Amino acid sequence: MKIVVSIGGSVLIENTDPERVDAFASVLKEIAPNNRIFVVVGGGETARKYISIGRALGANEAICDRIGIDVTRLNAYLLILALRGAAYPEVLRTYQDALVAEREKKIVVMGGVSPGYTTDAVSAILAEYVGADLLINATSVDGVYSSDPKVNPESKRYEEMTAGELVEIVIRTKLDAGSTSVIDPVGAKVIERSGIKTIVLDGREPSNILRAFRGEKIGTVILKG
Ligand code: UTP
Repeated sequence: MKIVVSIGGSVLIENTDPERVDAFASVLKEIAPNNRIFVVVGGGETARKYISIGRALGANEAICDRIGIDVTRLNAYLLILALRGAAYPEVLRTYQDALVAEREKKIVVMGGVSPGYTTDAVSAILAEYVGADLLINATSVDGVYSSDPKVNPESKRYEEMTAGELVEIVIRTKLDAGSTSVIDPVGAKVIERSGIKTIVLDGREPSNILRAFRGEKIGTVILKG
């Protein structure tokens, strides 16, 4: 099976705890035999901090995006270090290069690619590009809600939904550098057009990735439609 795993920077690098990065590496190494694994790493709080400094210095949104991309690549490199020999040794910068690196039969790790979206979209585009069977998005919430649960306590969590329903929920999200939504609107549209099965789950517990891979009911499953 070919799987793309998107790991939010906020769940990979929590309190600068190297054990957390190691825990993700162990889970990925457990899935890797007999499967092709691609990982996309986000920028998290560090990206948002650097973006806000850039913005305060007068940088426009595209340049702030570029700052965010650089941070995602640094985080991606830390995961490569934790994966040791199991990973392709460099952070891939383009979808084409990821496809070529796959031939090395190692876990392929990417960060951001270009301004205007987040690593949610990168992982969806990569999943389409490499013809993945499954996209797992490990983030800091336990699934997709009808609206932001921090703002609206009445919001409902979906166990299953269509990609079209996901697009309806996230389409009005702002695209500013560093903005947050469970999946960014570009990512949601690419998930919709590709029809790739996607699972959004709580990445604060790395073993949840393993549970999703084994077919356990977890997070929100997004199906074609
Ligand atoms: P992230 O993908 O980390 O955003 O990219 P996020 O949704 O905040 O993710 P996590 O879950 O907290 O890690 C950080 C920022 O980097 C820029 C955007 O500004 C994004 O908000 N970025 C990232 C890009 O412009 N292009 C990319 O391909 C990736």
